[in-house]
Amino acid sequence: MENLDGSILEAPKIVVPPPGPKSKEILKMQEEMETSALNYPKYFEIAIKEAKGSTIIDVDDNVYIDWFAGVAVVNLGHRNPEIVKALKDQIEKYWHFVEVPSEVRVNFLKALRETLNFDSKILFTTTGADAVEAAIKIARWNTGKRLILAFDNAYHGITAGTLGFTTYPPAKKFQPYYDNNVITIPYPYEYRCPFKDCLNEILSLVEHEVRTHDVAGILVEPVQGEGGYIVPPKGFLKGLREIADKYGSLLIVDEIQSGVGRTGKMWAYEWEGIVPDLVTIAKGIGEGIPLSLVAYKRDLDKLPQAFHLGTYRGNPLGLAVGKATIEYIKSHGILERVVSLGDYAKKKFNEIMEDNYKGSFDVRGLGFMIGVEFSDAKKNPASDFVKGMIKGLLRNGVIMYKAGLYNNVLRFMAPLTIPKELLYRGLEVFEEVLKRSVFSFQ
Ligand SMILES: Cc1ncc(COP(=O)(O)O)c(C=O)c1O
Repeated sequence: MENLDGSILEAPKIVVPPPGPKSKEILKMQEEMETSALNYPKYFEIAIKEAKGSTIIDVDDNVYIDWFAGVAVVNLGHRNPEIVKALKDQIEKYWHFVEVPSEVRVNFLKALRETLNFDSKILFTTTGADAVEAAIKIARWNTGKRLILAFDNAYHGITAGTLGFTTYPPAKKFQPYYDNNVITIPYPYEYRCPFKDCLNEILSLVEHEVRTHDVAGILVEPVQGEGGYIVPPKGFLKGLREIADKYGSLLIVDEIQSGVGRTGKMWAYEWEGIVPDLVTIAKGIGEGIPLSLVAYKRDLDKLPQAFHLGTYRGNPLGLAVGKATIEYIKSHGILERVVSLGDYAKKKFNEIMEDNYKGSFDVRGLGFMIGVEFSDAKKNPASDFVKGMIKGLLRNGVIMYKAGLYNNVLRFMAPLTIPKELLYRGLEVFEEVLKRSVFSFQ
């Protein structure tokens, strides 16, 4: 039986309904000591003992199928043996200095640049938000322009800087002060699009704004992540590319969630055959070891010394893992796997929803970025229903999380290495939980 990432193939196994007594005790201690701003423990009331491949064991010995992957980060499964080896080898050498070169650094740079379809220079950052901020600075510096065009429902981070471009309202409501040198345009979200011809009307709006303002860069997620796993219609990125070229703006593609193989291409922008000016990369490239960066076209490399700094940029452990990740994806046929299993899962989600869900719904996705949006018959968001589904799934051994403007989308973001059996079993659990869920809107 295929088991690329060392998952526990017997999952799910629930021995005590979560949260079990040991989980409860640890959750309580966390609540006492950590900030009240915590988010995820409100959805996943468990304490983790161990993680293996696409499975998680809690401290009460329940075993879960992981369709969450630490928010689309652990793309090759928890503690994938080849990643563990790369990490151990690097630990034996060194794990922090600063920018001065080392083999691990240049080896990663070579491997990463080979995955990109343009002659790139790389600037390391630490988190996703840091990469986005650096990309914005590079775009403004190079063009001498001020404004950034971003999209409704976008998520680019939640630091004081990135909040300007993160238009996703749940993230924004707590912080009214942000970079407001931003123009926002609707994203082509076809299920809820106010326009008749969603793609072309939105592209005309973008063109109008870029033509009439000094737009340094168009910042876009090739598939919206936190916004609800929204796949734009074909031609969207191509259209943005043309507009950027026509008016001297730069195209900044945020691949932080969609990158590193998650959509079945190394970078999601490849589905449209475009060449971006800047790409932001984080999450899956470090498999959980913080590593992020901006890749940008060589002709933008006019940055002065110390243009963007940060103590932890290009951490050697992350660099070793990053190179091993790229090699793993290439040598294990991960992209082909993601396309075929992703298509299968999307079809199954659709069938399950058609057979069991009474309201309006939308199943969409690319590769292992699949969103299932739940609404009532009048398309009002069924947010509470989704909250109940997350709880129900957890109780039955599947870890799945929400997304979307109205928190009414369940997103499938399993490790790309998940054994087929665990994908199939997870889908069975999904169907069972859906069947038993109460449709409060009926
Ligand atoms: C598309 C996108 N950009 C940026 C970020 C921010 O990354 P980080 O949480 O590492 O700051 C995220 C995080 O979810 C993201 O999905």
